[in-house]
Amino acid sequence: MKITVVGAGAVGASCAEYIAMKNFCSEVVLVDIKEGFAEGKAMDLMQTASLNGFDTKITGTTGDYSKTAGSHVAVITSGIPRKPGMTREELIGINAGIVKDVTANLVKNSPEVIIIVVSNPMDTMAYLVHKTSGLPKHKIIGMGGALDSARFKYRLAEALGSPISDVDGMVIAAHSDTGMLPLMSKATRNGVPVTEFLNAEQQNYVTEETKVGGATLTKLLGTSAWYAPGAAVSVMVQSIVCDQKKMIPCSLMLEGEYGQNDICLGVPAIIGKNGVEKIVDITLTAEEQAKFVEAANAVREINGDLKY
Ligand code: NAI
Repeated sequence: MKITVVGAGAVGASCAEYIAMKNFCSEVVLVDIKEGFAEGKAMDLMQTASLNGFDTKITGTTGDYSKTAGSHVAVITSGIPRKPGMTREELIGINAGIVKDVTANLVKNSPEVIIIVVSNPMDTMAYLVHKTSGLPKHKIIGMGGALDSARFKYRLAEALGSPISDVDGMVIAAHSDTGMLPLMSKATRNGVPVTEFLNAEQQNYVTEETKVGGATLTKLLGTSAWYAPGAAVSVMVQSIVCDQKKMIPCSLMLEGEYGQNDICLGVPAIIGKNGVEKIVDITLTAEEQAKFVEAANAVREINGDLKY
């Protein structure tokens, strides 16, 4: 199966690397607008194949979308990342134009493609892909919750002093510093609610550090992160290609689910060979429900700035 990754920058290349190393698809095509860049990244990655033991073929192209024809899944990471002090929402003007063009090229060459949207502000970019691609809604999936949940689990494990594999937790709602909703009420350590181990102050620390997880890294790195975003995308792609039907929080077009309409927002979903197999309805506390609505209102306002 062929996977296309548009944008061979930090996130795109990391995503291609994790996909290749997991050895579950035959080909990854990297596309970038910068002359020779995707070809160079592909060659460098291919030269790790014998070292890392994978058979996935990675190729690169400078904007020749005919090379992406017949892709099963395409990941859009093209665009600019944020710099320290910037919000994801400030990227909208430039990234919307890029995402719209890229989507048209992808669909023209792979009419059956499933698209994973990564470029920020991601919930709004996913909405833009819904409005412009002509693809059915189960084939458009925004990546945010998979990454934010991994960051939540990292902070939970830190606060609990536990191995990360012992903890479970999920982040839903918006992929933004203010709109993220780490579901503390449902987080567990070995099946036991973490609220039994963490006091209110510790819970608040975990929640707040999760919400600014991306901003903390942007401050440290001078640009946004790439390892965990790349790994998060690779988990989603694998769940589609191998029809694993994993439950992953993703930004999806809501039509009545969670009380919202005509908006892409992070909700848990079963991800399998058709893309979104099912949106999972979980019961939120009154406080979580109120925060979900608040996040939706903020995303809706940003969507209002889109021109398409
Ligand atoms: P980067 O600057 O390293 O890479 C972006 C690449 O896109 C560059 O190589 C650039 O040449 C390419 N590009 C620009 N316009 C293009 C076009 N029209 N066609 C093809 N390629 C094009 O940026 P990075 O760090 O990889 O981030 C990419 C995007 O992903 C940003 O918008 C960032 O905010 C977002 N992001 C989203 C995350 C999420 O959880 N949804 C997590 C991390 C980053």
